[in-house]
Amino acid sequence: MTEVGLLGGGVIGGGWAARFVLNGVDVRIFDPDPEAPRKVGEVIDNARRAFRKLTLAPLPAEGRLTFVPTPEEAAESVEFVQESAPEREDVKRGLLAAASRVAGADVVFASSTSGLLPSRLQADMRHPERMTIGHPFNPVYLLPLVEVCGGERTSPETLERAAEVYRALGMQPLRLDREIDGFVADRLLEALWREALWLVADDVATVEQIDDAIRYGAGLRWSCMGTFLIYRIGGGEAGMRQFMAQFGPALQWPWSKLTDVPELTDELLEKLVAQSDAQAAGRSIRELEQQRDDCLVSVLQALRTQRYGAGALLEEWERRLLRPVEEREPDPTQPLHLHTVRVPPEWIDYNGHLHESRYLQVFNDATDALLRFVGVDADYLAAGASYFTVETHLSHLGQAVAGDSLEVRTQVLGFDAKRLHAFHSLHRTGDDQPLATAEQMYLHVDTSAGRASPARDDVLARVAALAEAHANLSRPERAGRSIGMPARA
Ligand SMILES: NC(=O)c1ccc[n+]([C@@H]2O[C@H](COP(=O)([O-])OP(=O)(O)OC[C@H]3O[C@@H](n4cnc5c(N)ncnc54)[C@H](O)[C@@H]3O)[C@@H](O)[C@H]2O)c1
Repeated sequence: MTEVGLLGGGVIGGGWAARFVLNGVDVRIFDPDPEAPRKVGEVIDNARRAFRKLTLAPLPAEGRLTFVPTPEEAAESVEFVQESAPEREDVKRGLLAAASRVAGADVVFASSTSGLLPSRLQADMRHPERMTIGHPFNPVYLLPLVEVCGGERTSPETLERAAEVYRALGMQPLRLDREIDGFVADRLLEALWREALWLVADDVATVEQIDDAIRYGAGLRWSCMGTFLIYRIGGGEAGMRQFMAQFGPALQWPWSKLTDVPELTDELLEKLVAQSDAQAAGRSIRELEQQRDDCLVSVLQALRTQRYGAGALLEEWERRLLRPVEEREPDPTQPLHLHTVRVPPEWIDYNGHLHESRYLQVFNDATDALLRFVGVDADYLAAGASYFTVETHLSHLGQAVAGDSLEVRTQVLGFDAKRLHAFHSLHRTGDDQPLATAEQMYLHVDTSAGRASPARDDVLARVAALAEAHANLSRPERAGRSIGMPARA
């Protein structure tokens, strides 16, 4: 997938833009709001920040984002279209109909609607069989769930294609067999939301007490096991049968007000807004978004250590990012250019320059790229073999600031069955003056046995080819340097 179209660039459309662009897919986006480019830009900035914390795996080069003036131009010549316009059936139907008239018959259209029925949304489309629901969750760039639900005329191929697109973005498509208002996840959220509004309306609890009741308790376990598995455990050794025997009768008690909805009076609205303002305590939406993202990243990373639920999905996405660098013949006249990076603001120290520790991080990322280039990919690592860095000599020669685009050039200086000796130099993209250099020695190890071991033959062959090509390059001036001061006369 190389290019997709987006209709609508608000909270959700912006999140989709971030998810696609950061996964290397070009995006054409239509939104009539003149402020949309700024808003989408801010969502993508948040997403970049979150992805930098989420993973050390090498992200693909970012896709290009282009704003276009009509829905037709967003759908023309793309491979997939995601609609995220306001939740109004007439608006969505009109948009989908217009865009479907220009898109190829095999282009799948997905709607982000939170609960409108696909059979109605596809009604005016050309080739309605290629339309499905693709209902995501905010923030789209971090939460993996997307509900996939077809209408009466949707073809099975469309559902499979949409699921495939979402899986390629590291998401978890949840296929729903029946079309119902609100689908599954929003039905559940709506039930909780109604109860929460009743508790506020009846002055039983404030919005903050309700949020605390979730985030210190059930919210933590929902993130790993949902509801049914947790209740099975809650039933003790006899599982679900015992749980139902113990808590089933409570279903008849007057605990829940779910059959009824609180009237949204001005008084209730004012109360909600005032309590919500007090809870936010002056924090802006952007600040709250970043706090939310940091916490979600922590949860996802913790789940990854357990290889469980959304954490297992994150690990799988990273494995795909760690695929071997495309095999190509090294140009014998040039060092390798395998790693580029743009300096993010949080890498800057109190002097306004790139912090020392980040040089090592950038060189380490270049080493990872070099190792993938010679065939040390996720499967090689899983088989219990790797190269470990055993020595580094880093020289600081210039300074980088936030926003600089940097590239690392890498030259192999030597190798044997167990060792690899490389020299990296860091440059502003296209500038031959180095900002820093790093000379490193890597030792090949059997990670299960915990000791040095010869690299696999195919890896050694690729290292040898590289070393032979690089033997023609002049030896870097700083290679073999040690730290010292000239002796006094
Ligand atoms: N906000 C959520 O938490 C959430 C979660 C999942 C799904 N959704 C669904 O996503 C969709 C978008 O919701 P949102 O929260 O991003 O709303 P939003 O108001 O933030 O964004 C809607 C965007 O659509 C644009 N727009 C207006 N008319 C348009 C048109 N004719 N064509 C294209 N764009 C148009 C608006 O300018 C705006 O930027 C809705 O269907 C909503 O139900 C929202």
